Amino acid sequence: MVALAVVSVIAVAAIRYNGSTATAATAPDGKAIFESKCSACHKSSGTGVPGTFPALAGNTDVNAKDPSAIIATVEHGKNAMPSFKASLSPADIAAVLTYVRSAWGNHASPVAAKDVTAVK
Ligand code: HEC
Repeated sequence: MVALAVVSVIAVAAIRYNGSTATAATAPDGKAIFESKCSACHKSSGTGVPGTFPALAGNTDVNAKDPSAIIATVEHGKNAMPSFKASLSPADIAAVLTYVRSAWGNHASPVAAKDVTAVK
């Protein structure tokens, strides 16, 4: 009985493990990318630091129908904003901007990797 319980715990753990690696391989986690690459300046709450790092929550550019301006900002950088072209793939940039465009009350459409590659 004890042995059976141990076996089923191991089986459940194995299924969970496989499930999470499959997700990581197919779709980058936009929130995780934001927390590791962007939140130091823009803050986890999306409020930024007034006068230094712009708020992304409620930001007109972030919520614009056409995401090409914010894609260019993330790819190429702008003033104190670093360029992420070398460290994030088009799929990563799409995922982080999809997160930014839907978090903190923002309500803009998702960004696809092909939208990112279309911006020079
Ligand atoms: C070192 C600080 C810093 C980091 C890290 C950073 N940003 Fe920025 N970000 C800025 C600054 C400063 C600006 C304003 C640039 C300007 O307009 O001169 C900005 C601007 C932006 C804008 C445009 C806002 C607007 O009003 O047009 C977006 C979108 C943005 N950042 C997203 C991100 C994302 C996504 C990441 C992570 C992948 C990130 N930033 C990482 C500092 C940073």
